[in-house]
Amino acid sequence: MATDGTAKIVRERRGAQPLASLLDNAIDAAAEGPTPDDPRVGVRAWADDGYVAVAIEDNGPGVPEELRARIWEPFFTTKAVGRGTGLGLDIARHIVVEQHGGALTLDTRPGATRFLVRLPVARA
Ligand SMILES: Nc1ncnc2c1ncn2[C@@H]1O[C@H](COP(=O)(O)OP(=O)(O)O)[C@@H](O)[C@H]1O
Ligand SMILES: [Mg+2]
Repeated sequence: MATDGTAKIVRERRGAQPLASLLDNAIDAAAEGPTPDDPRVGVRAWADDGYVAVAIEDNGPGVPEELRARIWEPFFTTKAVGRGTGLGLDIARHIVVEQHGGALTLDTRPGATRFLVRLPVARA
């Protein structure tokens, strides 16, 4: 069921882009540490009462509290020039929240960061 919901959303215009952006970020973060020799990224999806939830998790450094509001701003990046555009989260939030009426939330501490996407399951 979660798989059906996910399939539906990814068929929507730009529906898969947020998931790809979050996965890119998770891979970057996991490689940064605190255990860069053991980078871990997880993706889980499940059905949740009319929504499909997708969690993208990593064991990277986490988002420091003072940056948690700013990471959603367009062009905000902590990555090297030429590596980060700072647009991934801005666009992801636009697509998930504004275009699809879903929610995008963050739960983070050093070594355990989770971005959670909740998308309404489109009716067939
Ligand atoms: N999984 C994550 N772990 C730690 N920091 C993150 C994570 N995802 C995003 N960030 C922070 O949010 C910033 C903005 O992300 P994003 O909008 O995707 O732009 P970019 O990846 O081009 O920097 C990143 O530069 C990084 O500081
Ligand atoms: Mg990014």
